[in-house]
Amino acid sequence: MLRTHTCGELRLDHTDQEVTLAGWVQRVRNKGGLIWVDLRDRYGITQLIFEEESSEKELLEKAAELGREFVVQASGKVIERTSKNDKIPTGSIEIKVSKLEVLNAAKVPPFIIEDETDGGEELRMKYRYLDLRRNVVREKLQLRHKMMQETRKYMDAQHFMEVETPVLIKSTPEGARDFVVPSRVNPGEFYALPQSPQTFKQLLMVSGFDRYFQIVKCFRDEDLRADRQPEFTQIDCEMAFVEQEDILSTFEGLTKHLFANVKGVELEEVQRMTFAEAMKYYGNDKPDLRFDMKFVELNAVAQGKGFGIFDSAELVVGICAKGAVEYTRKQLDALTEWVKRPQIGAKGLVYAKYNTDGTIKSTVDKFYTQEDLQAWANEFGAEPGDLMLILSGDKATVRKQLSELRLKMGEDLGLRDRNVFKPLWVVDFPLLEWDEETKRYHAMHHPFTSPKTEDIPLLDSDPGAVRANAYDLVINGVEIGGGSIRIHDRNTQQLMFKHLGFTEEEAQKQFGFLMEAFEYGAPPHGGIAFGFDRLCAIFGGSDSIRDYIAFPKNNSGRDVMIDSPSTIADEQLKELSILVNLKK
Ligand code: AMO
Repeated sequence: MLRTHTCGELRLDHTDQEVTLAGWVQRVRNKGGLIWVDLRDRYGITQLIFEEESSEKELLEKAAELGREFVVQASGKVIERTSKNDKIPTGSIEIKVSKLEVLNAAKVPPFIIEDETDGGEELRMKYRYLDLRRNVVREKLQLRHKMMQETRKYMDAQHFMEVETPVLIKSTPEGARDFVVPSRVNPGEFYALPQSPQTFKQLLMVSGFDRYFQIVKCFRDEDLRADRQPEFTQIDCEMAFVEQEDILSTFEGLTKHLFANVKGVELEEVQRMTFAEAMKYYGNDKPDLRFDMKFVELNAVAQGKGFGIFDSAELVVGICAKGAVEYTRKQLDALTEWVKRPQIGAKGLVYAKYNTDGTIKSTVDKFYTQEDLQAWANEFGAEPGDLMLILSGDKATVRKQLSELRLKMGEDLGLRDRNVFKPLWVVDFPLLEWDEETKRYHAMHHPFTSPKTEDIPLLDSDPGAVRANAYDLVINGVEIGGGSIRIHDRNTQQLMFKHLGFTEEEAQKQFGFLMEAFEYGAPPHGGIAFGFDRLCAIFGGSDSIRDYIAFPKNNSGRDVMIDSPSTIADEQLKELSILVNLKK
């Protein structure tokens, strides 16, 4: 070993010991005859001192030449500091250096490698390996590491077997586009990278593996956002001989285990809500339950009073912001402009202030008496000091708009505390979702999800009303995971493909292997996958999953460090039979 201790290890107890440290030079302070060097490694920072009286001249000169990020090895005696630094754990000691070895010099780094840096996002991504030297960045990956270890511990204790599934496969139906890989030895043919190991984990259940898990890379060619990367990681799981309830309790267990062992947070019971309730009360299938502000429908009290906009709307619905009556005219105008932005698309915002003197002042006083407005307040359960915000329109649109407004109000009023965790199971998702573009139904989760038995008769008459045995885990308004109880017999699976608009041949070509497997003794089974990067981001209190990925892609799907994707030579294209195809 090139060192006896790490840079985060030494304390007063070590005084007078001869030690050797190795690390990177964070800072050099040169006061002529006295030089201090902050030496950094993954574990911390230790101060080195070089003094004229006690050091050889040569040693002092060598220290004076050190630059930022030089890699050095320093040996010397641990001594007590005269002026202690109580901000770092090693702040009571320093090393009086007797031997200094430069292991490697370094160019001046393109940005300051400290918690506060002058490097912009683009530059830090280009030099991600330097960015990763910063404590604040590395700590996020340490959190990820810990989450991984604790996940494996829990899953192993629950008798889940970790099995690796292939990466060169064929299209999986998770709803995004595939990344494809040309096959050289099979000209004109392509593998697809897995959007998830869905079909393989189901096959493992047919194999009798009973409980499978994998911490696995998935690939989806979709538009990128703060919570989406083209390659991301899932904690992917499947269980045989289970019902929905068994899966929910097993993975509620994993969630609680992680919170307890990684964050020291004891979670309360995970709440449950049906998809229909989530849409009705929060306008969203992933409600943020850190704050209340439930939707209140006002058709009964707000229609029929001569206000045309409300009268002609399918739904009049609002939220009550507790204690927000103090919002000024200017703030309310800004809020109105905010909901009218194209991204939200509301035509306007009606508000009613429940003043502390008991009167209610609204933007539509012309149409409503105090008594009418009091009826609104009663519906909201509003009290003096509260602000009621109301939108109207067709059901689906207005719920979406109000959901955005609710989140904004939650943010503005400081109700979305990053240290509060409100997990929720959303259950009873619809099986199918109508797609306007293609004018047909798509599987809302994926085509292997089973419908609720009692809803099967609706498949022909009212497909959109069929509920699935599908569930999502939501934490603080983020979809962390999703899964379902699967279909495990050929006939139902075939029926499902038919309803999704597959011809028999198409279904056979794409998923014949799975349907055939169902004929060889497939046990009832179901599972779930957690978005691991998202889970890490929630634990770390960040909105962006990028911070929790060692080498992430930017918003255009590029890795700016290695400059990928990139073109390849014609030769290679030819070899892969792609150039031929392009020229055809
Ligand atoms: P689903 O498609 O819901 O289910 O994915 C599971 C979870 O993966 C996360 N996720 C993502 N995270 C980062 N970037 C992305 N591009 C991305 N896409 C999805 C989300 C999501 O909840 N095979 C099924 C699971 C099952 O049925 O068992 C599946 O993949 O947190």
